Amino acid sequence: MSINYSERIPNNVNLSDDRRLQRALEAWQPGFLNWWREMGPESFQSCDVYLRTATSTDAQGWATFGYVKMPDYRWGIFLADPESDRRIPFGEHKGEPVWNEVPGEHRGVLRRLIVTQGDTEPASVEQQRHLGKTCPSLYDLRNLFQVNVEEGRHLWAMVYLLQSHFGRDGREEAEALLMRRSGNSDTPRILGAFNEPCTDWLSFFMFTFFTDRDGKFQLLALAESAFDPLSRTTRFMLTEEAHHMFVGETGVGRIILRTCEAMRQAGIDDPFDRDRVRALGVIDLPTIQKKLNLHYSLSLDLFGSEVSTNAANAFNAGVKGRYQETKIDDDHRLAQSTYPVLKLVDGVIKRIDEPALTALNMRLRDDYTNDCAKGLLRWNKIISTAGIDFTVALPHVAFHRQIGEFKEVRASPTGELIDDETWEKRRPEWLPSTEDGEFIGSLMTPVTEPGKFAGWIAPPKVGIDNKPGDFEYVRIET
Ligand SMILES: [Fe+2]
Ligand SMILES: [Fe+2]
Repeated sequence: MSINYSERIPNNVNLSDDRRLQRALEAWQPGFLNWWREMGPESFQSCDVYLRTATSTDAQGWATFGYVKMPDYRWGIFLADPESDRRIPFGEHKGEPVWNEVPGEHRGVLRRLIVTQGDTEPASVEQQRHLGKTCPSLYDLRNLFQVNVEEGRHLWAMVYLLQSHFGRDGREEAEALLMRRSGNSDTPRILGAFNEPCTDWLSFFMFTFFTDRDGKFQLLALAESAFDPLSRTTRFMLTEEAHHMFVGETGVGRIILRTCEAMRQAGIDDPFDRDRVRALGVIDLPTIQKKLNLHYSLSLDLFGSEVSTNAANAFNAGVKGRYQETKIDDDHRLAQSTYPVLKLVDGVIKRIDEPALTALNMRLRDDYTNDCAKGLLRWNKIISTAGIDFTVALPHVAFHRQIGEFKEVRASPTGELIDDETWEKRRPEWLPSTEDGEFIGSLMTPVTEPGKFAGWIAPPKVGIDNKPGDFEYVRIET
């Protein structure tokens, strides 16, 4: 299904046939553009950026690349094609036709899910808005901006649902999405990880690897929804999200590769020989592990409490399913089944069988963890290929948590429960310290000459859209 770009708001939903919705979205558009100018990438709004734009909503719809000034990016409303005779795949209504309108009794739950998802999209743009000024290359700068414009479009996707299906409170929520600000103490974004500052490029790559991946799994669960417009809009968002995963995984991988190369050239075998490694102008592997510990633990919090009646209700109602719901071989109702959940029982971490319905957050989080682990295997391959004796690892789920079973306890990255004193003493070994932040910050000087890369990150194997290494992905004005 191709996208109509001749209208003020590009879309593939025949927006011009729905004048009321068209007017509501056109009224919201100037506020969005104001928000983008105020909170979008700082300093680069008038540069030509080599961006991809979707022309249709199938997987092949990404062929169109060209120079665009970011404020001219054609944000719009793109839904994946409807599946004919789609049936509700799970819950109490399993087997019934999917809904094209919101049933009154599920309105509150759906609105909350859509607003929470929608809020993360502009939040990440706000978090990343200063990074352009310290880009390690034009290639990376372009990838940052591609992620940013697409997160902006994800906001459009959620606002479309709010304005077309939730009446007046939907319009109010759409306005509020432009009012909250990441990290602002008065009007913060809804979720914790989206109020943390993103100060350097290692954080950006870790964020796109771990936190965008939480987004991917939330979208996958919503793509199963009985509310078909939500399913269709999230299915198209997922094709955009794949690039964000790529940016994160290859970004961290290229940093690891550069560190390993520099260590080998200098004849350093010990990855913990921190000062000598840092003197080479690269980020030592233990510091990369600390950043990983931080971003993974913050992202686990986004899945909510392991045991949750909200999650059970959303599943029963048909509103939010499981990862790959239709491929799972069970009754898709879960009334009788159980799922193992890690819990704190009398001061000991134990695996307890819980009703599968209330354990859905845990299950989605486990699926997420398995997906993360695949990326770590590839990172570790880079390290072992370089002949360096070090592995990066995901910390234990009890480590550094603010939400769920382990929020009241202190645990090491390997999952031993420890007292406050031990935590305070060892914290600098496990999480980035101020000093680590200062060192990484000292490397963040911009490199904007085509084909050149900062000394702490390896060039990519191939260019975007198969462009040559010295391609000018962003035309910086002088
Ligand atoms: Fe997104
Ligand atoms: Fe994303």
